[in-house]
Amino acid sequence: MIHKPVLVKEVLEYLSPKPNENFIDCTVGEGGHAEVILEKTGLNGKVLGIDLDQNQINNCKLNLAKFKERAILVNDSYGNLKDIVEKNSFEPVNGILLDLGMSSAQLESTRGFSFQKDQPLDMRYNNISDLTAEIIINDWQEEQIKKILEEYGEERFAKQVAKKITEERKSKRIESTFQLTDIIKKAIPAKFQNNRIHCATRTFQALRIAVNGELNNLEKVLPKIVSILEPQGRLAIISFHSLEDRLVKNFLKNKEKERNIKILTKSPITADFEELRKNSRSRSAKLRAAIKN
Ligand SMILES: C[S@@+](CC[C@H](N)C(=O)[O-])C[C@H]1O[C@@H](n2cnc3c(N)ncnc32)[C@H](O)[C@@H]1O
Repeated sequence: MIHKPVLVKEVLEYLSPKPNENFIDCTVGEGGHAEVILEKTGLNGKVLGIDLDQNQINNCKLNLAKFKERAILVNDSYGNLKDIVEKNSFEPVNGILLDLGMSSAQLESTRGFSFQKDQPLDMRYNNISDLTAEIIINDWQEEQIKKILEEYGEERFAKQVAKKITEERKSKRIESTFQLTDIIKKAIPAKFQNNRIHCATRTFQALRIAVNGELNNLEKVLPKIVSILEPQGRLAIISFHSLEDRLVKNFLKNKEKERNIKILTKSPITADFEELRKNSRSRSAKLRAAIKN
């Protein structure tokens, strides 16, 4: 496995998987979390693992092969969760996990997620949707680009970066990650380029979120989740971005007010010192959990 799953012991604590229980892993990736859940739910408990990325599903199949038919893997969007559950007659559901965003395997792929490798500006988790990062960068209006950089990237120089992109694309189409990174470097004042994070990080994050409709999918799945769970079923959601975390937090609060669930995490759970040391991806991870009434 290339990807190191985050907050594993905390996910196990809040999902509390027991023998013969069934779980849905909405973002199964390479199966890191699914594996530890399957280890706790023998002999007959199952995991329905979903991922939008067929490559992730292929690798996950190999990683979870030892669990045989206890691991059911589906290449689809968790936005379609209700249909996927019905199609697979997957019930009862004792817990649901969402570990949002991108995996390390995708960062290392050839799809342009990383500004450290020169690749085509694609950034799709699947290869069937029409929107790519290249289309956003070359065809969207300056104002639209600025908006996603601000909202999804929290880029303080969104205006300058969007302006530079639209200037530069007049002379040459922007097709590669290195071309884009050079433009970002020209747009961001030099004294802000030696920060803790690379100056292209926020723009790349914003593009990835926009290309894959990440917030839309989360908004689509949240209202369906509680009805899919059994009473006393548990929900754990790991987010890596403040907009995602706010969506999750507000959703859980509303559901608690309606007396549908009880929130188990007063404030979000973050990685402990040991994990922070071993896995830099865990730095921005926030886990929220709840139990259905
Ligand atoms: C952080 S990784 C999950 C890693 C996984 N928990 C593990 O232990 O290997 C997030 C995964 O969510 C997938 N993903 C992103 N958007 C999705 C969507 N709308 N539906 C299903 N999977 C999605 C990505 O392809 C990626 O594999």
